[in-house]
Amino acid sequence: MMKKKPFIIIVLVILAYCFLPTLQASAADNSLEKIKSKGTLVIGTSADFPPYEFHATIDGQDEIVGMDISIAKKIAEDLNVKLEIQDMGFDSLLPALEVNKVDMILAGMSPSEERKQSVDFSDVYYTGGQNIVIRPSDKEVYDSKDSLVKKKVGVQTGSLQETLAKEQMPESSILSLSKITDLILALKTNKIEAIIIEKPSAMAYVSNDTGLATFDGGFELAEGEQGIAIAVKKGSESLIASINESLSNIKEQNLTKTYLEEAGEHLKNSPGETEEKETKSNGMINYWSYFARGTGYTILISVLSVLFGSILGVLLSLMRLMDNKIIRGLATAYVEFVRGTPMMIQVMFIYFAVGYVINLPALASGIIAVSLNSAAYICEIIRSGLNSVSKGQTEAARSLGMSKKLTMRYIVFPQALKNIWPALGNEFITVIKESSIVSIIGVSDLIFQTKIVTSVSYRGIAPLAVTMVIYFILTYSLTKLLNYYEGKMNHD
Ligand code: ARG
Repeated sequence: MMKKKPFIIIVLVILAYCFLPTLQASAADNSLEKIKSKGTLVIGTSADFPPYEFHATIDGQDEIVGMDISIAKKIAEDLNVKLEIQDMGFDSLLPALEVNKVDMILAGMSPSEERKQSVDFSDVYYTGGQNIVIRPSDKEVYDSKDSLVKKKVGVQTGSLQETLAKEQMPESSILSLSKITDLILALKTNKIEAIIIEKPSAMAYVSNDTGLATFDGGFELAEGEQGIAIAVKKGSESLIASINESLSNIKEQNLTKTYLEEAGEHLKNSPGETEEKETKSNGMINYWSYFARGTGYTILISVLSVLFGSILGVLLSLMRLMDNKIIRGLATAYVEFVRGTPMMIQVMFIYFAVGYVINLPALASGIIAVSLNSAAYICEIIRSGLNSVSKGQTEAARSLGMSKKLTMRYIVFPQALKNIWPALGNEFITVIKESSIVSIIGVSDLIFQTKIVTSVSYRGIAPLAVTMVIYFILTYSLTKLLNYYEGKMNHD
């Protein structure tokens, strides 16, 4: 019976948490004040949508640019605050806004009726249409959405295009991916036949890449589905008023056109522009700084997670060996719960849910989540190690007059460590590889950087190959290091 209690408490906490947002939503509107006093405007975007928002290499540095980013800069300038950009999957944007990770969304988002249920929108600041992107060799085959009956069509997860495909192309089979850049790759490698993309973005991709072609999709669009607008939390009247003022300034000065032209300039600079340029400048060596940065983060996250995970793991394993039933039960519940839920959900839970109470940056959330996860496994490894040392050893030490503590420290623990060394090594290697899951909350680890390289280089396979080699070098070096210490332990 005792054992069940911690489980019930965890479930109750999660349930209680679910009602928290409802309580907070009724608070008075201080949306504008809050940003001004913070001194920073944090916008959420999905930088895979040229000319609205996309990655570009400027002076060897990765930067997010585009019309939406220029608008965000203008809004921040009007508010006299700094601008911070958070890049994530399009489908993570609304949740991020809900839990205050971002102050507003600028991601070419259409103010559809469905979305208006959960967020408020600014005035519409741009209107495009809906296009279909195909391979140029299929120009004769596909020319309308109806020509794609029974064919595979790609859309971005959580986008208006996903809804359009489901409603207006019911006989096509639909593939939803989180990033448009991944859809483009899927199209180029014949995984799908077509992609539905907003017209300006489709045009940008096509003009930037000779391996793509596009035509008007001929979709029927409802009122809110035609334009794009800025999303903010429900009830942020003061913020909306201020955004709309900036937007009308932009309109008056005809800045949208300037912003689009600037975006076009960056697009021209990308390596995929012409065939010739492509072979010259998008070799992986040009992106070494992306890989280096990603590797740095991956190492940092792994080292810290192994360290914290080991400390907590030792504590947990000691708790599990205690006589006190409650302490033992708590440790068992922890291990079972952590082992029994996917790390991806744990990472998102720490970032979004816990982050709702204390605003943790993505990197810290990632390290905490991976550490907490690894601790559960390390606890079990250590426990098995301690159990593997025969009782006779303890009895002998105790009868020689050693205290319980000393016996543990000098007799049991060293022998246990030797026994569990290979299993611990396995866990550390797993941490290096599995920590890649933190890329979903926007930590710029190796996987995250690989995706950026894919989008700026317009190449699909080469970045994957490079990343695989880097991971292997990391894990293999660790194996060598662990073997060295194992050898040492065997000698004495
Ligand atoms: N306008 C569409 C929508 O609201 C697509 C937006 C996609 N934006 C992006 N940054 N990928 O769903």
